[in-house]
Amino acid sequence: MSEKLAIHGGTAAVPDGMVETWPPLTQADRDAVLSVFDSNQLHTRNAPKASALEQRWAEYCGAEHCIVTNGGTQSLHIALAGVGVEPGDEVILPAFSYWSSAAAILHQNAVPIFVDIDPQTFTIDPALIEDAITERTSAIMPVHIHGMPADLDSVMEVARKHGLRVVDDAAQAQGATYKGQAVGGATDATAFSLNRLKNLTGGEGGLMTTNNEAVYTCAAATGGLGSVTVDDGGTERTFFGHGYNYRPVEFAAAMALSQLDRLDEYNQQRREMADYLTEHLADIPGVSGPYTPDYAGPVHFMYTIEFIPDELDIDVTVDELKSAAWNALEAEGVAILQWQREPIPAMQFFQDERGYGSAYPWRCGDSQVTYNADDYPESQRFVASHAYLRGVFAPNSMDLIERYVDAFRKVFSQIDAVMG
Ligand SMILES: Cc1ncc(COP(=O)(O)O)c(C=O)c1O
Repeated sequence: MSEKLAIHGGTAAVPDGMVETWPPLTQADRDAVLSVFDSNQLHTRNAPKASALEQRWAEYCGAEHCIVTNGGTQSLHIALAGVGVEPGDEVILPAFSYWSSAAAILHQNAVPIFVDIDPQTFTIDPALIEDAITERTSAIMPVHIHGMPADLDSVMEVARKHGLRVVDDAAQAQGATYKGQAVGGATDATAFSLNRLKNLTGGEGGLMTTNNEAVYTCAAATGGLGSVTVDDGGTERTFFGHGYNYRPVEFAAAMALSQLDRLDEYNQQRREMADYLTEHLADIPGVSGPYTPDYAGPVHFMYTIEFIPDELDIDVTVDELKSAAWNALEAEGVAILQWQREPIPAMQFFQDERGYGSAYPWRCGDSQVTYNADDYPESQRFVASHAYLRGVFAPNSMDLIERYVDAFRKVFSQIDAVMG
């Protein structure tokens, strides 16, 4: 006889309070943050923890330069400035991402141009980029969404053919590998977030890497209130130009530096949990885990699940299946969530092209761009058919992940009862 579903009063597969939140904090993190008080150097890239973090992150990514900032959006912004995106330029990015990817483009007074995602990896579909290029395009921004690297070689090939720069958004992908190399050293510039949720975190903060000296110099000045320090015959003098205050906070840098000691270990735990889930969900009709292309070493910032009604012997839409299975899984104690509810260009802000002031940046270059939410069917399909599981990371153990699999088995083996 099948086990009674929790929605029908049965015992939940996952006990209450079992799912722990990110990030795991250790005594080493506490000591690192407290040591900042002793140094009394609380901000700027020159402070000890910030400069050590820059050095170690550049090495980790195989990049020449790293800049630590006070946010991932800010890191993206200085990367775009660094590669020379001009007001009124167009920058191509995937329609499915966090809104910050597009916000950073707007911060540079440039116009976001969205293309649809690849239906398997959910990262930008390189085959669609060429059609989106116009004479105003200056850069492409692939996003390593959910910790899954985008197909960088294909993106770089189109970019080089058309003389465009590439800034990759690796906010969700610290430690993810593309063809065996950590992301952060393969494009013109890469931006990472250090916010509380990220695989590498300082609470808030950001990092930018590049191998290009000119990109580095411009990005560093842009994030440092336009300041450039020069040696003027033995005396250091600082000049100010255009820029923003994206200076890092030393407490956050100390925390991120301490967490970096354990990044590989944490990423490995995420991979083991994700692989276990994916392997077992593959045996359960109606649901599946994420696909990993051969080139990718993902870090599963968020574990995605897809609801697949076609695999079931019942006649239901994906919306009906997702909604009913969601309720049943939640009752079983599975921490399930929806992250983005629509592709970015479907957001009212883009539909209305509100921007700031009188519709800037769209007015900057008399842009004729409009956004049609129906132009991104794969992004729409992704949002409709997918959800995420919380807790697929340390300090949670495989015990939780095994219980998640039990919950999925229980719910999908009784899907008639679940659908009511
Ligand atoms: C894909 C993506 N890009 C950019 C960002 C911006 O990072 P931050 O929150 O540090 O500004 C985020 C943060 O959630 C993100 O997920």
